[in-house]
Amino acid sequence: MNLFKKTMAFVLAIAGFLPAAWAREISLIPQPISVEETSGVFELSPKTTIGYDAALQDQAEFLQQVLSQSTGWDLALKANARKASVQLLLKPGEVGKAEGYLLTVTPKKITIVGEDKGGIFYGIQTLLQLFPAEIYSDRRQHNVEWTAPAVTIYDAPNRPWRGMMLDVARYFYDKEFVKKYIDMMAMYKLNKLQLHLIDDSGWRLEIKKYPRLTEVGAWAGPDHNRLGGYYTQEDIKELVAYAQVRHVEIIPEIEFPAHILSAIVAYPWLSCTGLQHEVPTQHFISKDLLCVGKESSIQFLRDVLEETVELFPSSYINIGGDEANYIRWKTCPYCQEVIKREGLKDASELQGYLTNIVAEMMKEKNRTVVGWEEIFMRGKVNTPVVGVIWHNVSDTILATRTGHKAVLTPATHMYFDFPESKTPGEVKAATWMPPISTEKCYSMEINDYSPESTVLGVQGCFWSDQFIHGTVLQEIDYLNENRSENYAEYFTFPRLLALSEVAWSSQAKRNYQDFNRRLSQHFARLDFKNCHYRVPEPRIEKMDTTDNGNLVFTLSPSVANSLIRYTTDGSYPTVHSPIYTGPVTVADKSDFHAITVVSDRHYSLPIYFAPDYSAYRQYGEYTAEWKPLTVQSQTAPWKFECTGKISGNGNYTVSFIHTKGDNSLKLGRLKLYKRDELLAEVEQTAIAGPENNAVSYTFSVDAFDAGTPFFIEVETCGQGGNDTAGLVFVKKEAQP
Ligand code: ACM
Ligand code: ZN
Repeated sequence: MNLFKKTMAFVLAIAGFLPAAWAREISLIPQPISVEETSGVFELSPKTTIGYDAALQDQAEFLQQVLSQSTGWDLALKANARKASVQLLLKPGEVGKAEGYLLTVTPKKITIVGEDKGGIFYGIQTLLQLFPAEIYSDRRQHNVEWTAPAVTIYDAPNRPWRGMMLDVARYFYDKEFVKKYIDMMAMYKLNKLQLHLIDDSGWRLEIKKYPRLTEVGAWAGPDHNRLGGYYTQEDIKELVAYAQVRHVEIIPEIEFPAHILSAIVAYPWLSCTGLQHEVPTQHFISKDLLCVGKESSIQFLRDVLEETVELFPSSYINIGGDEANYIRWKTCPYCQEVIKREGLKDASELQGYLTNIVAEMMKEKNRTVVGWEEIFMRGKVNTPVVGVIWHNVSDTILATRTGHKAVLTPATHMYFDFPESKTPGEVKAATWMPPISTEKCYSMEINDYSPESTVLGVQGCFWSDQFIHGTVLQEIDYLNENRSENYAEYFTFPRLLALSEVAWSSQAKRNYQDFNRRLSQHFARLDFKNCHYRVPEPRIEKMDTTDNGNLVFTLSPSVANSLIRYTTDGSYPTVHSPIYTGPVTVADKSDFHAITVVSDRHYSLPIYFAPDYSAYRQYGEYTAEWKPLTVQSQTAPWKFECTGKISGNGNYTVSFIHTKGDNSLKLGRLKLYKRDELLAEVEQTAIAGPENNAVSYTFSVDAFDAGTPFFIEVETCGQGGNDTAGLVFVKKEAQP
């Protein structure tokens, strides 16, 4: 134990609330089919030996390497030995399910029987989760009892496809990061990595026949400040080999006909117009598609895919296919000629035509084409493909009806570029869907949506739009070095653990309460992997109302061996706030905040209750609020942002509504600014107080710009004192 953890354990022990759950107990993620605890423990020692069937050398060496890094012992490996203390046995048919295993730990011996090599590997991963968290360290750990409880585990995955997509195109993650991502996926029994190698803002795969794809298409911004990068073919071979040992299949995504501007910049003849563009430095979806009407484009795809297939042994090749806007195809004489010649209904069927060509090409190479759901929804595709469904999961029915298969990655549950919460202080993230908490991710249903439909499995997606520049998302100490990579982990974990269980375990066995209990034990494992997860807020066990209307919060830690610190004055807690030791009483739930503290640099956002403003719907959108602490005794300007609330030209009403306190807010002149430019000014004096609780200002806007920040500035002061609180709403009035 390091000093910090020792101190915490002491503090918690004297506080008398070290929960029983913190004693190390079996906490496996994903949950196996059956776990039967027996008695005693197995203890690793320098004399432990690993025996393995000759075919399992990779798996045995993997286990040996993990154990040697953390224990410092080079355990002996013995092929075909039957008397080793750890025994890996390949017995097809014995477990009866692909990738399944039977793991038996007794005080004397550990045996993993695998249905196949994958089963052995997953048995090893489960075994590692039985040992202390330090087992994952890449440095020798001292004073650890390397014991695993005696247990019999039978396990196999529910579905064959357990994936993650990593967007290395919007932001280039180097191969060491990709290896770490693969390693983390493997730890949680995920087996398919969709590598999103191509997008408008970057081409990341070296193609020998088209060197400009990476000389030009992999870089954005001016020479002296350019950003980007790519994987050489040697890098790819290294990644593929690394992933193979970890039973992760890397599925390359060569995206077309849209999201391919990086290639068009390198070779403008690929597009319908042939115009020269630049690799964008901002999130951007280009309307320039690959021109299907030119034979040179088809040859380009054939050449690129030929080299791709040589590099990636995966039986799947992903061709993207999402979000094509057909405006160029509609006016391109070459594309129109194909539409006419092939008797296609419209430009959208041209995408199906192209998918057919490529699916046939890949079939000749014994590969199956995968793509976003659009690939089976845009015209008829004769060769069976796999659609990765990101909108409506029941479209799996359509996939099956048209002869295809499906993988589910609904953006509502499995897009990890959305934030986990709406709590102020959450990092900048995608906003076109509501936040996705770990619980929401865990709640994803995975069904076969009709008796005939086949869902191969489920996948998480991590898009890198936020990282195009290695953007500073927020000043979080813990994440500031190597920040895009650290932020990528912050977004991915712990949601990837929820994905793991959704993908591996049967839906009938899922139980969020139980998952959460097990999850609390896994953060220490992530720490030893040096993985930058998002720390979850403390759990609210109970929220009772007393007879006099107060609220009593009872919390429990969401991270084993962490502290909870809290405040009762509405402010955010810090690592110096009082330590939670038992139920806390407050008058109003918005007064109470509590954080999980893992270390002085690593802590959660606070427990936060998004206020309910539905009673004020008539006044428009919540925009700002005043509180006693912010109310001045002398007239002073109060400025607050209203970006997004000003949403176009038109008439607006701003309402100040007194909600609490005996005193009033005196209001004077109001100004509206577009960044620094004064757009409107209203001369008015009014009182928002207990007697007159709503004050409104109206003005009109005729110089709106999307993407520019707007601010309201109003003169205010407390009247009779500062015991006043209230809300500000902005409403865009309907056009007369
Ligand atoms: C996607 O999110 N465009 C697949
Ligand atoms: Zn064209």
